[in-house]
Amino acid sequence: MKTLVILAHPDINHSNVNKRWKEELEKYPNDIIIHELYEEYPDWNIDIAKEQQLLESNDFVILQFPVYWYSYPPLLKKWLDDVFTHGWAYGSNGNKLKGKKIGMAMSIGDKEENYSHTGSVGFSADEIITPFKATAAHIGAIALPYFSVFRASFQISSEEVEQSANDFIKYISKYK
Ligand SMILES: Cc1cc2nc3c(=O)[nH]c(=O)nc-3n(C[C@H](O)[C@H](O)[C@H](O)COP(=O)(O)O)c2cc1C
Repeated sequence: MKTLVILAHPDINHSNVNKRWKEELEKYPNDIIIHELYEEYPDWNIDIAKEQQLLESNDFVILQFPVYWYSYPPLLKKWLDDVFTHGWAYGSNGNKLKGKKIGMAMSIGDKEENYSHTGSVGFSADEIITPFKATAAHIGAIALPYFSVFRASFQISSEEVEQSANDFIKYISKYK
């Protein structure tokens, strides 16, 4: 069984973390499918049938993205809106994602210590992903613990980026 990584970065060529994660994923073509939304859909016209087929064929899905305004980049949100349809993902006959494992790999710009009730963000990273967890619950999917790296915006060293790329692969192996 392969791991399907839905990668959503609006400007991957100028990315530091997600670009490196993608390069690491590319080392495992027999095990990992990288599905890059901004490359696949430059016009944002999502092929819903194709996306649903891809999800139906894979039981382990990871959403990989940089955190933008404590949420998904917009094309990933549109992908969720378009693809997780009534009668397919939810509703009385919508059970196509039921029991599938869904994880998230997020690069987070700010420091980890700021993601707390007393920190400048005021919320933990786990609280930020509440919409993801509620979505998974609604469609009967299994929401895995998220994978992340903090300080992705500016203070992260190249060694830490390398380490996070290796840790991302370990995360995939752990939950596969
Ligand atoms: C439009 C925009 C919104 C952002 N919002 C947040 C945010 O809400 N919280 C945060 O910690 N970082 C935020 N960042 C920083 C990004 O998370 C960070 O630049 C990204 O994770 C770095 O990954 P990359 O090297 O792959 O681009 C934002 C960046 C941009 C461009």
